[in-house]
This record gives sequence, C-alpha cells and structure tokens, in this order.
Amino acid sequence: MSSEQEARGARLLVVDDDPDMLRLLSMRLTGAGYQVTAVTSAESALTQLEIEHPQLVLSDVRLPGRDGLQLFDEIRQHHPTLPVILLTAHGTIPDAVEATARGVFGYLTKPYDARELLDKIAQALALAAPAARPAKGAGDENWRSDIVSRSNRMAELLAEARMVAKSDASVLLRGDSGTGKEMLARAIHKASARADKPFVAVNCGAIPEALLESELFGHMKGAFTDAVANHKGLFQQADGGTLLLDEIGDMPPALQVKLLRVLQERAVRPLGGSQSIQVDVRIISATHRDLDVAMAEGQFREDLYYRLNVVTLNLPSLAARREDIPLLANHFLQRLAGKYNKRLSGFAPEALKALATAPWPGNVRQLYNVVEQVCALSTSPLVPLALVQRALRVPTVEVQTYAQAKQRFERDYLVGLLKLTDGNVADAARLADRNRTEFYRLLQKHELTPGSFKSDGSQGPTDGVADERHS
Ligand SMILES: Nc1ncnc2c1ncn2[C@@H]1O[C@H](COP(=O)(O)OP(=O)(O)OP(=O)(O)O)[C@@H](O)[C@H]1O
Ligand SMILES: [Mg+2]
Repeated sequence: MSSEQEARGARLLVVDDDPDMLRLLSMRLTGAGYQVTAVTSAESALTQLEIEHPQLVLSDVRLPGRDGLQLFDEIRQHHPTLPVILLTAHGTIPDAVEATARGVFGYLTKPYDARELLDKIAQALALAAPAARPAKGAGDENWRSDIVSRSNRMAELLAEARMVAKSDASVLLRGDSGTGKEMLARAIHKASARADKPFVAVNCGAIPEALLESELFGHMKGAFTDAVANHKGLFQQADGGTLLLDEIGDMPPALQVKLLRVLQERAVRPLGGSQSIQVDVRIISATHRDLDVAMAEGQFREDLYYRLNVVTLNLPSLAARREDIPLLANHFLQRLAGKYNKRLSGFAPEALKALATAPWPGNVRQLYNVVEQVCALSTSPLVPLALVQRALRVPTVEVQTYAQAKQRFERDYLVGLLKLTDGNVADAARLADRNRTEFYRLLQKHELTPGSFKSDGSQGPTDGVADERHS
C-alpha cells in the first residue's frame, strides 16, 4: 500500500472562521479521500479533538478568540504528537519561523496551492504514523527516543551527550535524584560505537563493600569461603561496551584505589586470581553528591575524580525545565493508562497547571509517581485538578520550637490525666507525682478547668484542694 493510499481515510480537523473558505477546504480534502470535520473556532476545535481524535489539524492562524498558534499550544500539551498545519492569509516569514520553532509541522499562505496543501498533509501523516511506533534501529534520533523533552537546556545537553558518545571519553553525570542520569547513560551507550555490546549498570552505594570488589572485578573459585566457582566481574561482563558506575560518590575509599588502577591499566585482576585480564570498557559514572565537597573532605580521591570526569554533563532539575512537565506528564499518562487499563486522554487544564508549577524535589521520578497515582484513581478521561492536588500533597512535618513542643506535650499530658481521673485534681496530682499546688499552677498555665472533665458535667470544685488556688 502506498503512503498516499494509506493516508486516505485519515481524519482531519479543519479550523477556519471564514465559512466559504471552510467549505472550499472541506470539499477539496473530502475529494482527496479524507474524512473531514470542519469547525469555525479554536474552542470548538479543542472540543472536537477529544471526541474525534483526528490524525491531523489544519487551522487558520487568524481566528476570533484564541488564534491558531494558541490552539497549537493547547494541542501540544495534550496531544504532543498530533501534527498541525497552519494557514495564514498574511504569511510573514517571522510568523512562520516562530511557528515551526514551536513545533508546528508546516504552514501555507493563502491563497494556497491545492497540490502543495495535499502534499503537506500527506507528508505530515506519513511522519506522524511511524512516530507512534518507532522502527527499531531506524532514524538517527533513535538513540534518545526514550528521553521525552522539549526544553532548550535538555536539547543542548543531549547535543553534547551525543558528541561525547562518539568518543570513548569517560563521562561524569551529575544531577539531583530522579533527573534521568541512568536514562542519559543508556542513551549515550546507544549513540556510541559500542551500541551493540553490553550496557552494564552497578549501583556502588547499594552493594556492601565486601561484595563490591568481587562484583566489579570478579573472583576465582576458592578466593574466599563462598567462592564456589569462578565469577566474572561486571567489568568483564561489560567488555566492549559501557559500564555505568552509579552513585560513584558512595564508593568506599579502599575500592577507589583499586578502581583507579583498573582504569589506568585497562585490566582487571579477579580476587584470588594471579593474572590480569584486559578489558575494553567505556566508563560513565553518575552521582547526586557533590564530589568537590567529597574531595575536599577527603572522602573521594582526586586522581580518580580526574580519570572519571573527562567530560561532565549536568542534568538540570525538573524545576529548571518546566516546559518539559506537560510533555512528560502526558507521556507517562499514555503509558500508564495501558497499565491500568483505563481510557485517559489527558489532564484538565488546571490540573496540568498545578503539575507545571509544583516544586518537584524528586524530579522526573516523582512526576512519574504522581502520574501513576492519578492514573490509578482517575474515573474520568480528563484527570481533574483535585486528583493532582491530592497526589502532589507532600506530607508536611510541622516543625515546632522546643518550647512549643514542650508546651503541647504538657497540655496533652494534663488533659490525659484529668480525663483518667474524671477531673479529680488530687488523684491526677498523685499520678503525676506532683504536689497539688504545683499541679494547680500547671492547670492554670494551660487554662484547664478540672470541673469540665467531670463526667457528671458539674463545674464545682472536685476536692478540698480547689481552695488552695485562692489561698
Ligand atoms: N526525559 C525523560 N523522559 C522520559 N522519562 C524520563 C526522563 N527522565 C527521567 N525519566 C524517567 O524517570 C525515572 C528516573 O530516571 P533515572 O533513573 O534515569 O534518574 P536518576 O537521575 O538515575 O535517578 P536516581 O538519582 O534516583 O537514581 C525513570 O523511570 C526514567 O525512565
Ligand atoms: Mg539512578
């Protein structure tokens, strides 16, 4: 089937406030075999989008109310892969440049050339189809296909990553927890000449020191009590490929020395072994710690640092690239909708706004968790604000001063005693091992009236000592 035949029958949404223009466009496109829905405003286009799920939107730029570019921005948030073509009567170059920079598939000036219009639509549909199902090994951009982003900072970072991927230089990835360090490490491996060799990741902070050495460098049978067979270390397992040393900042000092030697000699000697084995491994290390501080404190070796850190790539926090939030949120939503077997089409605009403005201390990983929670709970196709707010609520620990905490404890304690003794001060004071005068002073301080704890409700003095207050 040719792509032109394939495109036939595709659903197009056409937006123009000029009814004559709209009729003409619809006729042409229907004549070319498309299914056309025609609307006269951006607002009705947005409604129609949710109902019809068109495969392409063709819109006039000048529209009453929201214009074509604003419509495009809305579409981008909820349907990031839906192609949009804009029509403009007064096509100026800056307009077009701006539109394409923002991701509009293309634009045409009115009066448009019918052939050109049909060609553009066919191209857009042909490109959009494989985007939904990326062909394995196809296209130059496949190396980073898992990384969802539209921010300039990430684009610059990815361009750098791609350049260093081509070399064998050691790369140090820095970034807060959940910013995508491991993901980027995998992408670098994929973009490198080592792509079809193994990618091996090890979390240096998660393996006990005693095991880490044999994990990394391997051991020979009998090297220690439990070494019942030869064991190939991760360096050897990654031979020809890439080894990610994750949380390198947590590597114990004794092993830092050994690692340095392996990197210098490009060879490992398994525990209990007498011979070194050559290994060809590209090292990527990652850390959320500040290694400069660790070095200053003598916890990280400087010579190792310079070996590992030929190139540093800094992953920006999610809060520093908020334009990625809607895109990531929708991406995760689509993925998770499948997992939870739900028909979810997106976030309500206020919900998306709440996501876009949240602080995100846990970065992309936290965003994923929030989206997972709302997916599990949502009962409508558009995730409402309330659910997002609920998922975003960080359990807050109200920090009190020592004096406040003591005050509160004292009060709760006294209330507890009075309840227990039915408002009997003598009994309560005895339980507290305080004399009654002292006990009364405490009650006064907290403005507690023992009478109100009496179960019969009478407010009178509970025992003789009540008079002590006045004496
Ligand atoms: N740009 C992105 N596009 C899509 N998914 C992403 C992106 N960045 C991160 N993720 C996802 O977020 C999660 C956290 O990413 P990753 O494990 O790479 O972060 P990390 O920096 O190694 O975190 P940690 O410090 O907690 O180990 C993963 O599930 C990853 O798939
Ligand atoms: Mg990680």
